[in-house]
Amino acid sequence: MVGIDQVLEKLSTVIDPDLKKDIVSMGMIKDLELNDGNLKFTLELTTPACPFNVEIEDDVRKAIADISELKNFDLKVTAKVMEGRSLDDDTGMATVKNIIGVASGKGGVGKSTVSLNLALALQQTGAKVGLLDADIYGPSIPLMLGMKDGSMEVEDNKLQPADVHGLKVVSFGFFADQSNQAAIYRGPIISGILKQFLVDTNWSDLDYLIVDLPPGTGDIPLTLAQTIPITGILVVTTPQDVASYVAVKAVSMFEKLNVPIIGVVENMSHFVCPNCDDKHYIFGEGGAKKISEQFKMPFLGEIPLNSGIMSGSDLGKPIMMTNPDSPSAEAFRKSAKNIAAQCSIIASKLQEEMASEGSSETSDKEPTTESTPEPTTTQT
Ligand SMILES: Nc1ncnc2c1ncn2[C@@H]1O[C@H](COP(=O)(O)OP(=O)(O)OP(=O)(O)O)[C@@H](O)[C@H]1O
Ligand SMILES: [Mg+2]
Repeated sequence: MVGIDQVLEKLSTVIDPDLKKDIVSMGMIKDLELNDGNLKFTLELTTPACPFNVEIEDDVRKAIADISELKNFDLKVTAKVMEGRSLDDDTGMATVKNIIGVASGKGGVGKSTVSLNLALALQQTGAKVGLLDADIYGPSIPLMLGMKDGSMEVEDNKLQPADVHGLKVVSFGFFADQSNQAAIYRGPIISGILKQFLVDTNWSDLDYLIVDLPPGTGDIPLTLAQTIPITGILVVTTPQDVASYVAVKAVSMFEKLNVPIIGVVENMSHFVCPNCDDKHYIFGEGGAKKISEQFKMPFLGEIPLNSGIMSGSDLGKPIMMTNPDSPSAEAFRKSAKNIAAQCSIIASKLQEEMASEGSSETSDKEPTTESTPEPTTTQT
């Protein structure tokens, strides 16, 4: 009769294409029950936005199909987002598993548009997502969501984020009086406001917090990088931006501060012909890919230049909400999945580092022990 060891051996041939590790040692097999040839378990993916969810499930089914003695097989697929940042800081943000800063070398490349639509794309996969508009001088998220000022309240000395389309949103634009003043604020005040938005907000449990940054390498991006541990930075470029290499300046600053670069998304990368669906790279093709190779950053996707994306932002009706089946929404969805996958990769490396730190601490005192996570299994 088939045993649990045989099942786990088969399952350990299934490799997560992003994490390059087998699903058993990653601890993705939960609640395994094997009873008289009837097998049941849960496959727990590292994110609901996993770009390879279908492939991994198929591989699991194929691996199990190889076991001829099984009478019945019941598979449940769920996801639990991994922690892509160190949570043991005392800043009060321990309930936020991943923080993603969205940056660019120059202004107007579409950071806010991309931040908002990516946040919605992640949220639509089932993840819990927050959006922090950190552009204190020129907050644009409220407008892009069709929201008015006064949408945020304070309770027990904590800001309560607005809840819109299932996203938790905080923006300086919600404070009407103050936001008119922002232009005259200087470094320390601006940094203080951002710190408050980060740590004095009741974010509750979030899988991903997207932080829409102002362009360049000023006080706000610097404060984000230095206040709390973040998962990494997503760089938004346009084909023209790439030609002048301005994006690289932003990348260098974050690298110097030891903040990981999650990757690059090229916005307004091409135009999709409405008649024939052909892609036209009107500003030149492959610029962001080239830059990502040169600077060893993952290339995470390209978003078309599309009037629907622009009018969605202008009218406060993001395209991910109004036209989720459009090619533009599909492009955001694809990029969002790649970003989530990169966050899982960063999280997995973090786990390894912590495990090796832990085992080197223990090895001072006692013989080394295996630190690979074990699946939770029960046999009935
Ligand atoms: N893919 C796109 N297709 C068409 N228009 C776009 C696209 N992305 C952004 N836009 C438009 O470009 C303009 C600038 O976008 P956005 O405000 O998102 O840029 P930004 O990088 O956040 O700017 P800033 O640096 O000022 O914060 C907006 O009018 C927006 O609607
Ligand atoms: Mg912006």
